[in-house]
Amino acid sequence: MIVCVCNNVSDRKIRQAADEGMTTLADLRKHLDVGTCCGKCHSCAKQVLRECRETK
Ligand code: FES
Repeated sequence: MIVCVCNNVSDRKIRQAADEGMTTLADLRKHLDVGTCCGKCHSCAKQVLRECRETK
């Protein structure tokens, strides 16, 4: 599923980034450009990060 349409970032990419140690939206923004355009994906991106934390 695409989380950030503006920058074409999927939930899979976010999960991968979380596995590599990115834990915050700021990290995702810096490394994957998530949420740097319209910002509509913020809550969804945070949700994916939360799920990653919970399944660890
Ligand atoms: Fe992520 Fe627009 S959908 S910045």
